[in-house]
Amino acid sequence: MSAQSPDSPRAGEPATAKRGLWAWINRRMPIDSFISHELTGYFAPKNFNFWYFFGSLAMLVLVMQIGTGIFLTMYYKPSSAAAFGSVQFIMREVQWGWLIRYMHSTGASFFFIVVYLHMFRGILYGSYRQPRELLWLVGMVVYLALMAEAFMGYVLPWGNMSFWGAQVIINLFGTIPGVGPALTQWIRGDYGISGATLNRLFALHVAAVPIVLLLLVVLHLVALHQVGSNNPDGIEIRDRLGPNGKPLDGIPFHPYYTVKDIFGVGVFFILFALVVFFIPTFHGLFLEKANFTPADPLSTPAEIHPVWYFTPFYAILRAVPSKGLGALLLVMALVSLFLLPWLDRSPVKSMRYKGWMSRLALAVFVVSFAGLGYLGMQPVEPLYVILARVFAIGYFAFFWLMPFYTRWEQVKPVPERVVYHAH
Ligand code: HEM
Repeated sequence: MSAQSPDSPRAGEPATAKRGLWAWINRRMPIDSFISHELTGYFAPKNFNFWYFFGSLAMLVLVMQIGTGIFLTMYYKPSSAAAFGSVQFIMREVQWGWLIRYMHSTGASFFFIVVYLHMFRGILYGSYRQPRELLWLVGMVVYLALMAEAFMGYVLPWGNMSFWGAQVIINLFGTIPGVGPALTQWIRGDYGISGATLNRLFALHVAAVPIVLLLLVVLHLVALHQVGSNNPDGIEIRDRLGPNGKPLDGIPFHPYYTVKDIFGVGVFFILFALVVFFIPTFHGLFLEKANFTPADPLSTPAEIHPVWYFTPFYAILRAVPSKGLGALLLVMALVSLFLLPWLDRSPVKSMRYKGWMSRLALAVFVVSFAGLGYLGMQPVEPLYVILARVFAIGYFAFFWLMPFYTRWEQVKPVPERVVYHAH
């Protein structure tokens, strides 16, 4: 019996495909077939718009955070005695250290800007609906992992807000009935926030969570390519195929959308550079004032609040007097997002064809989320607490009334083919 070598000719293959280093590699690793399945032969809807920039930008920021993070790790020292000083050393002594650190700190905020816009697009066009429920759920797990990653990164410089922020957030686990206090102690690795806590958060921030994030993003993309992208019309382009078996309303991802995405990357870097070089603290929003002083367990900052991207949830937490109930509402605020695919009962996907009730509800949601975000940065005053309650009701109403208003309202007829106006 003659063994078939991987380089032997195969039936039907052109002679040229069998020779050369590239062919040799492809026999052993299917690079060409990956490109033709997932890029040049992967058809995406032809009517993508502005909102479709943010998935690829999120990937860019993830890579940038890992890249700059590796260089920071070369000089950062994860001990309660040396952490703050090592960050100052990076800023003042390490060649280009200031740039790497500002890219990383600005990157964290830009990550959330990009991901919030990306999620909003999903809500706007009903991209979480059947058959993309799993894609949305994986996205939500990515979001949770991102929140954990950002929280742990914020603790590392061991500034005073790092310390007290960690105190507030880790203590939230203490509200879980029964296991709470023991769990909190286990997470801290000590009776209070200490060097042991800093050390483990460092390990999780630089190794464990980034690996999980990368894996989850791969899963996110696998799930996306299995069902194909949604689009601003919320029409399934795979339902109408041309004679070549490809969607009539689709265009090859490469080169059309790779070019579009590169344009997005250009605009992104202009905005990113403006912040990194001219306003890296972003007036105390991206790097907070209290974090320019070292951690001090004996001195609480005047106002403890997290960085802007957590403040909507922080405001919900503080909107009620009971800490336990606040923590429960915070969890519910996230659970509501997970459940979106099943709360929306509209016969149409995209906001373009939904009725006035959905539009109003979405407006209430946006105003409430932004309002909560603002209030989460303010001191606890009676008026602010009342406003936070109003906005929290607005936030939850969007989700929990959705099964009703999406069924009651009159929707517009959805066109057969996607709507595309070339400029
Ligand atoms: C590190 C974070 C993330 C990365 C790198 C990422 C990446 C991507 C990419 C490249 C796409 C395709 C291009 C596009 O539609 O813009 C996409 C689509 C999508 N993502 Fe994400 N994503 C992330 C987080 C999330 C989150 C947090 C959610 C929601 C909870 C989400 C939900 C979706 C949905 C529903 C789609 C399909 C949208 C459509 O076809 O209309 N993603 N993602």
